[in-house]
Amino acid sequence: MVKAIEWTDGKVRILDQTRLPREIVYIETEDYLDVAEAIRSLRIRGAPAIGIAASMGFALAALAIRADSVQQLSERLEEPARTLVSTRPTAVNIRWAIERMNSLLRKNLDEPVQKVKELLVEEAKAILEEDIETNRAIGVHGAELIRDGDTILTHCNAGALATGGYGTATAPMLVAREQGKEIRVIADETRPVLQGARLTAWELMEAGIPVTLITDNSAGALMRKGEIDLCIVGTDRTVRNGDVANKIGTYTVSVLAREHGIPFYVAAPLSSIDLTIPSGDMIPIEERPPEEVTHISGVSIAPEGVNVLNMAFDVTPARNVTAIITEKGIFHPRDIRKLAEEGLNLDQIRIKMW
Ligand code: MRU
Repeated sequence: MVKAIEWTDGKVRILDQTRLPREIVYIETEDYLDVAEAIRSLRIRGAPAIGIAASMGFALAALAIRADSVQQLSERLEEPARTLVSTRPTAVNIRWAIERMNSLLRKNLDEPVQKVKELLVEEAKAILEEDIETNRAIGVHGAELIRDGDTILTHCNAGALATGGYGTATAPMLVAREQGKEIRVIADETRPVLQGARLTAWELMEAGIPVTLITDNSAGALMRKGEIDLCIVGTDRTVRNGDVANKIGTYTVSVLAREHGIPFYVAAPLSSIDLTIPSGDMIPIEERPPEEVTHISGVSIAPEGVNVLNMAFDVTPARNVTAIITEKGIFHPRDIRKLAEEGLNLDQIRIKMW
């Protein structure tokens, strides 16, 4: 399976997704600033993958710092942490990963500096490995929602490339296929930077899953013709009231799905759930450079100087979400709030029957 990111011999190895599907090119670095640049410029992207990248960037920064104590190491890591967190604002996974690394520092203040640096590297590797396990579990739960013969629409790329491996939205598809179900995937191309066309179509073809690429504005027509059975998308941040931030255009798909009575599922690892924010209106939405809209593969397609608004994400209200697929089971979006209120006692609120 394709690997978006790896830790190898003290270096971080990132598959440059801006070059896909034409070229398979890796970046190898020992410098956390290169990792930050790779996140900012979408060489690595997708909420879980950028969380993993941030934790590895943090570990690289730690290895390069001279410090006499873990306290000093921790203080000197504040600037790298800020830089990594500031790369992309919408996905909560970066903050989640950096908080996890900082918490490890706090627990080991009396240990030797060298040992703690090694622990940080191990923690970053663990975040990657756990993400793969998480996705596999999302796949097992989510596959229950897929019937033999289903056609599934997905938006953007929430596949192996967006994670440590396996993907979130794609995991149920992969498990359904392993279970012998015949499925077909419809991939929205996902303007402006075409993660659906360049990444989802490519990785599903590599995985041997039948995939049909459509323009973003074709989804409604296909739904109207009865050609979509369900939608599964990923998320960058799902908040307490069950609102879901994901790639721009996801909201539109959810409205279309509701209009046509088609189930709309969100695959959300717990690392993408932010219980500190009460409503989707408060999720910071990243705005990206105008060139992503005015150009395709470096070729200008719009009049020079035109005003551009390039919102990278939108928010789908909980009422449009049929269910949220996590590694702990399938939940109704209104029950996300209970995750906070009931102290993460997931078993009480998991939806048992679908
Ligand atoms: O701008 P991107 O490519 O990072 O946006 C990615 C998405 O919107 C994904 O759907 C989301 O991060 C979930 S990835 C499992």
